[in-house]
Formats: sequence, C-alpha cells, structure tokens
Amino acid sequence: MSSVHPRPVGSRTRLVAVYGQPIHHSASPAMQNAGIAALGLDWRYLACEVAPTDLAAAIAGAKAMHFVGLNLTVPHKLLAMDLVDELDESARTWGAVNTIVFEAQDGSGEWRPIGQLDHPTGPIRSRGYNTDADAIVRSLTEDLAIEPRGARILLLGAGGAARAAALRLADEGIGELFLVNRTESKAQELADEITERFPAVHAQAGYPDSSVEIILNATSAGLKPTDPLPIDVTRFPLNGADCVYDMIYRPHETPLLAAAREAGCRTANGLGMLLHQGAAALDLWSGQYAPRDVMRNALEREIYG
Ligand code: ATR
Repeated sequence: MSSVHPRPVGSRTRLVAVYGQPIHHSASPAMQNAGIAALGLDWRYLACEVAPTDLAAAIAGAKAMHFVGLNLTVPHKLLAMDLVDELDESARTWGAVNTIVFEAQDGSGEWRPIGQLDHPTGPIRSRGYNTDADAIVRSLTEDLAIEPRGARILLLGAGGAARAAALRLADEGIGELFLVNRTESKAQELADEITERFPAVHAQAGYPDSSVEIILNATSAGLKPTDPLPIDVTRFPLNGADCVYDMIYRPHETPLLAAAREAGCRTANGLGMLLHQGAAALDLWSGQYAPRDVMRNALEREIYG
C-alpha cells in the first residue's frame, strides 16, 4: 500500500494519457498515478475517450502540448503503427503500438524521452513501442511459474491480443501451439503465420489430442457473466491442462477460471499482464524502474475494491 501523496497540480505538471474507446472503465489512471507519485514525479495520467478517426489529431495534440507519452488501448493499437514518427523494434516485431514516448533532442543532439529532460526545446517526435507482448511472458512466469520454453499451449482466440501472445510465446521457444477460435479460419491463418515465422514451433489449428501445460484465454468471452466458455470442454476437458490463464481481469474469476479451479488447475487472471505492460511504459517515460508493488496494489484497489 502506497502512502505517497501526489503533488498538487501546478504550472510545471506534465501529462501522460491513455487513449481508447470506450475508456471509462480503464484502471490505468489509478495504476499509473500511483506509480508516478511513488517515483516523486510531477506528472498526471489521464484517460481520454478518443475515436479512431480522431487518433491522428489526438496524438498530434499531445505532442504539441509536450505530453510525456501515451498509452493506447482498444481500438487504437494497430492504427497507431502508421501514426508515429518512429517505430521501436518492439512495435515492429509484435505489430502493434500500446505505448508512445515523446522525444526531444538533448544538449548533445541525442533524442531522449522528454519526461527525462528538464526543458525540452526544438522539435518533438513520437516513438511507438509495444510493452504488451513481454508482459504476457512476465505474467505467466510470475503468476503461474510457467517456463514457456518447450511448453505445449492451447491458445483460445485469434484476435489482436491472441496474435501478440502467439508471436511472443513462439519467440520464447514454446514447443507446440494449438489455436482454437470461434471463427476457425482465423485460427488457421494465425497457425500458418506462426509456422512461417517460427518454423521450430509446431503450430496448428484445433484442439490438442493430449494434455497441455497451459490454456491461455485471449478471447473476450468471459467479460460478461452470460458469455459462453471460450472452450468446448467436450472436445478438451479442463483437467487436461496444468494451468489456465485468462487475460480478462474483470471479474476477478471468470467462468473459465472458476471451472478450471474446480477441475484442479492452477489459475491466474490478466491483472499481471495489465500491470507489467503499464510498468514497462512508465519505465520508458521516466527512465526509472517503476514500482511494481505500488502499481499492483493500486490496480487491485481500483478493480476489486
Ligand atoms: P482483442 O484485440 O482484444 O484481441 P479482437 O481482435 O476483437 O480483440 O478479438 C476478439 C477475440 O475474442 C476473437 O478471437 C473473437 O473470436 P472471432 O474471431 O470469432 O470473432 C473472440 N470472441 C469474442 N467473443 C466471443 C465469444 N462470445 N465466444 C468465443 N470467442 C469470442
């Protein structure tokens, strides 16, 4: 629990924001403002409702107003690939931008994050990063003690979040990846992409024929209590997995996680992913190591009360 009190807003206070649509349920402001206060920074982190058609203008506006940086969430992560001045290797590799760092040149002409410069002058440029992909691996390791190398994984979903997870886990050297999605053709497309980019990983669409280390839910099924399970348990029973990870973090225990717990699996929800993508963004903006424990406490208070 942090006892740090934020400084009052003044004329030197600098801004960071998350853009999304919808954005009003975002837990990022609570998490980031706690981290910012604990680092002693005179910054504030806001949540802004931005329509996709306004994203370019909203990024340009933040740049013009010397914002320190931005986070982007649904539906902006792919669009932003074409809207930043520079793409970091992480965004290029994982194909999406969830973090923007605004940069200016220091006294020696080197581009540096403006959050780390006292008086940024001259031109400003935007650099797009992806901190989501690494957050998946970090959370699996930390929350479920999973060693991805060589693992057999059943991944549910084939949208943006599933694709980033599949690519990042394949890069980590997993052994086999089974992809199941409501729209089967999208699972097949993703399996083909993994096979092409990571030939050492055995990727295929469809349910595994024997046990897996982990089932990873990257669909949005489970956000609402009336949603169906994202897995057909007559095709693959949950006790065929050691662990089940659900990227959804609200509710705390989704119907999938409840069923997995009853089946004897170890379980974790997506709070750790949310934490690690946000903490990595704050590291980039500030040049300091963001306090994960403070940020996690703030998230848990905000989401679970
Ligand atoms: P995100 O960026 O969060 O991944 P997305 O790209 O829209 O969002 O992907 C949503 C994923 O959840 C897709 O895999 C989607 O399946 P379809 O490809 O068939 O649309 C999956 N999904 C959404 N609602 C679902 C439901 N009720 N049951 C099963 N899968 C669902």
